[in-house]
Amino acid sequence: MSKISENIPLMDIREVKKIYGEGEYRTEALRGVSFTIHPGEFVAIIGHSGSGKSTLMNIIGFLDTVTSGQYHFAGQDVTTFTEDDLAGIRNKEVGFVFQSFNLLPRTSAVDNVRLPLVYAGVSDHEQIERAQKALTMVGLHDKFENAPNQLSGGQQQRVAIARALINNPSLILADEPTGNLDTASSRDIMKILDKLNKDGHTIVMVTHEKNIAAHAGRVLEVSDGQIISDHRP
Ligand SMILES: Nc1ncnc2c1ncn2[C@@H]1O[C@H](COP(=O)(O)OP(=O)(O)O)[C@@H](O)[C@H]1O
Ligand SMILES: [Mg+2]
Repeated sequence: MSKISENIPLMDIREVKKIYGEGEYRTEALRGVSFTIHPGEFVAIIGHSGSGKSTLMNIIGFLDTVTSGQYHFAGQDVTTFTEDDLAGIRNKEVGFVFQSFNLLPRTSAVDNVRLPLVYAGVSDHEQIERAQKALTMVGLHDKFENAPNQLSGGQQQRVAIARALINNPSLILADEPTGNLDTASSRDIMKILDKLNKDGHTIVMVTHEKNIAAHAGRVLEVSDGQIISDHRP
């Protein structure tokens, strides 16, 4: 995270539009969105289903590109990046956590977590060591060899968080991370995200639950492809 300067915004998004399809299938998912996020912030994105939250997360996380507008990440103009550049910055800077965990079935926790390192030229020994360390950090020191179907939902999401952390990303993007979890597991996951934020990771999290959003220092509300409020509760 040292390469990220505190002084320039981590993300600077200006008048971003995203249009899917054409003709009768044309959907304007983002209709001119602008905001900045600084290193160390914990931001919740709230809004109704279909308002554009996931589209925005995909753009922020370099999984998708803008139709128009500007996106600077740590001072770099991302809209000029090639597919390869985007894949590179995504692997290095972003850890993703999804509502549905997105783990490989029949694959141990350690092997799921070390997956992002397999193509990074890291030795097997170091991959396993780092995966075990990340799993220990999320409280799963006794579940290294368990496959997802041998873990509860909350434990599976903790494996997914460990995987997201394995490259020490500057940014953690979580899209409804507690959407499939019961209250107790949600609380565990939010404790981990709070700790990661205290340790210096910038977090952007989509949620539709008010009590989950309350963990963030700042809440952006999206409606019909636009930001209708930006406040610090
Ligand atoms: N890949 C896509 N192709 C076409 N339309 C899409 C695509 N992804 C999202 N949309 C549309 O864009 C709008 C915003 O969707 P989304 O960003 O998924 O909203 P949210 O995450 O807030 O529920 C919706 O109308 C949705 O149907
Ligand atoms: Mg969504």
